[in-house]
Amino acid sequence: MPTNFTPSRDIPDLARKVILITGGTSGIGRAAVLSLAEHNPSHIYFTGRNAQAGAEVITEVRTLAPACPITFIQCDLCSPRETIRAALSKHFNHSSRLDIFIANAGVMAIPHGLTPEGYEVQFGTNHMGHAVMMKQLRGVMARTADSNDVRFVALSSVGHNMHPPGGIQFETIRTADALGKWANYGQSKLANILYCKAMAKRYPKIMSVAVHPGLVRTGLSKSIRAESMVMSWMSWLMSSMYKSPEEGVYNTLWAATTPRGELTTGGYYEPVGKKTAGAKACSDEALADKLWDWTEEELKDMEEL
Ligand SMILES: NC(=O)c1ccc[n+]([C@@H]2O[C@H](COP(=O)([O-])OP(=O)(O)OC[C@H]3O[C@@H](n4cnc5c(N)ncnc54)[C@H](OP(=O)(O)O)[C@@H]3O)[C@@H](O)[C@H]2O)c1
Repeated sequence: MPTNFTPSRDIPDLARKVILITGGTSGIGRAAVLSLAEHNPSHIYFTGRNAQAGAEVITEVRTLAPACPITFIQCDLCSPRETIRAALSKHFNHSSRLDIFIANAGVMAIPHGLTPEGYEVQFGTNHMGHAVMMKQLRGVMARTADSNDVRFVALSSVGHNMHPPGGIQFETIRTADALGKWANYGQSKLANILYCKAMAKRYPKIMSVAVHPGLVRTGLSKSIRAESMVMSWMSWLMSSMYKSPEEGVYNTLWAATTPRGELTTGGYYEPVGKKTAGAKACSDEALADKLWDWTEEELKDMEEL
């Protein structure tokens, strides 16, 4: 359990590692791209919707780490699965390798809505969009893991504790507003933890862990701050508790690069590197299996690479 993780000192040489980070255009994901780029990876791919922000991150990487091959993949996690698949297919195929997949992109307590495929929008973004990517990429990751240390790091949140009674209410996933928007966030972030557990059980060679980054000053809470005077005031009161993205990324970087022996696959970690049980529902293996089976059924028309 590290007490003084320092990325510049503790991240090893990442030669030959191919890395994919979702939501690398801002906040914690952007900080992850910039930090990992300085450690000699073979290639960093990062995703987001905002092409302008993607170009700006590439410019920053060219200054910090000119030799780092880097590619922005424009991709909305709410898109229909075929759109996500097409965006990734240009860069990953049967003979590719993928060493580190950081499922970081996320939204929090945004207004009720449905994705084009009819999923509640937070569950659609935070869980389903990443599950679509994982369904496509897990074959590549599993093959890479035959002779390499391969990791799946999912950004969850202490906010998973706001999940509705029972953990995941499957009957609400295809409705926009059966739950409040915070319960929807909690449900999606619990799904991130349970999906890691399910991955760990089915793909033991892939090290799958979920992390909470801490409270981090990013764009995530912008919509909440704009929502009301009370939320804006509470946000101001709490502002001294927030970390910068450069520090808020530490737990992600630790999980992605610390010696493999320090991690337990299927585990959930608070910053930095503290293995934590999380809410009771996080240990519900039957619920993790149910989420896996439900997700597989939803994506049964998709093929792995
Ligand atoms: N900040 C915190 O205090 C905190 C606490 C607990 C957990 N987390 C978790 O940390 C992760 C990163 O959040 P952050 O704080 O860095 O927030 P952020 O600054 O708002 O960044 C979110 C990222 O996700 C991407 N994204 C959002 N919706 C997307 C969509 N539909 N399709 C594709 N990409 C999408 C955004 O890219 P585009 O705008 O380019 O699409 C952006 O790069 C989230 O999973 C969040 O739940 C954060």
